[in-house]
Amino acid sequence: MNLTTAPRGTFDLMPQQALVWQWMESSIRAVLLSYGYGEIRTPIFEHTELFQRGIGETTDIVEKEMYTLTDKGGRSLTLRPEGTASVVRAYIQHKLYGQSPVTKLFYIGPMFRQERPQAGRFRQFHQFGVEMIGEESPVADAEVILLAHDLYCQLGLTELEIHLNTVGCPQCRQEYKAALTSALAAVAEQLCSTCRLRLVRNPLRLLDCKSPVCQEVISRVPSIHNYLCTDCHHHFDQVTTLLEQVGVKYKLSPKLVRGLDYYTRTVFEIINTDLGAQNALCGGGRYDGLVAECGGPAVPGVGFASGIERLYTTLEQNGKLPEFACGPQLYILPLGEELAVVAFEIATDLRRQGFSVEMGNGTKSLKAQMKAAHKSGAGFVLIIGEEEWRERQVTLKIMADGSQKRLPASGLMEEITKLVSPRGPQVPLREE
Ligand code: HAM
Repeated sequence: MNLTTAPRGTFDLMPQQALVWQWMESSIRAVLLSYGYGEIRTPIFEHTELFQRGIGETTDIVEKEMYTLTDKGGRSLTLRPEGTASVVRAYIQHKLYGQSPVTKLFYIGPMFRQERPQAGRFRQFHQFGVEMIGEESPVADAEVILLAHDLYCQLGLTELEIHLNTVGCPQCRQEYKAALTSALAAVAEQLCSTCRLRLVRNPLRLLDCKSPVCQEVISRVPSIHNYLCTDCHHHFDQVTTLLEQVGVKYKLSPKLVRGLDYYTRTVFEIINTDLGAQNALCGGGRYDGLVAECGGPAVPGVGFASGIERLYTTLEQNGKLPEFACGPQLYILPLGEELAVVAFEIATDLRRQGFSVEMGNGTKSLKAQMKAAHKSGAGFVLIIGEEEWRERQVTLKIMADGSQKRLPASGLMEEITKLVSPRGPQVPLREE
């Protein structure tokens, strides 16, 4: 074990990247709040059974990918592999169904899946997601898809593909599963070993297989669209009509089934074709049975979740990542140890006003301290020299053009405020 390397499939966010990450999170939050979603923060771990029941016993996530531990009380707990089951659990626990007919919640945070790491696939990754619980109308499905689409557009991404399908309701899906099983039973030996198992345990999953041989076999099986009941048919028609009405393009993907078992009717993914094998930026759909399955009332739900790492890469590929200055705005340079006391006081006042300030400790030469100031990337340097300070004056150097001016210390705050805006919150100044 290498103690100086982060565990496989995890990564550190360094200060410069963290600034971009914060920008993504605050942009996402602003859009989701404007669509009427409230933020929920659920625990990082939940009872294992919640995911087993919610996501489905025969899914890859539950069968192979969960980080599960037994705590000292003998309880089985699992690091959340996704957010929907946790939100549904919280919805039931806090009886949100009693507060309003429709609940709209969003989340942002880390998720954990023990998958084989590769580009765009991590073991600790981050998602933001929304869940609209209580609305059965296809308008909700279209609204959620549109929200994902518009959010990416607002971040500057316009070339994404929406892949859309329906997986029907438990009734029509049962019929389709039977048709699928009988169509594939005759050619089962041509399928990969995983799909042979899927044929028995969860035949719908087969449609998702990436093996070219399975793909060829699957291309000949009947489409779920031939098995939809009247209500499911109508629901899907409505979703597509609504999207067309607002000019949102989508691709019908009859083989899109998604990797979680809770879906009913609409499923969708938004794809960035430049991302390689892991090209889904987000995925979601309707889950009308999940709340009841987890022990709540029979209320419908619909939502989606987006990978933040994949969003970061897509924004980067498209040149849409803003650059942020990481260093201080102002560097204070006292010429002598006694003047470091003055510098400390000025730095404190400026920091309390929200400016980002660094200072030298006064023990080094002007040249050495100036080098440090340069390296810090500060746009302004404040030099406090002995002679100037006798007259309670300081020198302000503007790094962009090298110009400098002498100022009375009493007018410093006013001058700085004219030149640059504070980055942080303001703390009331000390009482004089
Ligand atoms: P999901 O398709 O499993 O759906 O994940 C959603 C998104 O999370 C993916 O499209 C991808 O961008 C990102 N993602 C998933 N696994 C990884 C990974 N190992 N590394 C990096 N990114 C990853 C769900 O999680 C559902 N809860 C979505 C949902 C919400 N459905 C209804 N409501």
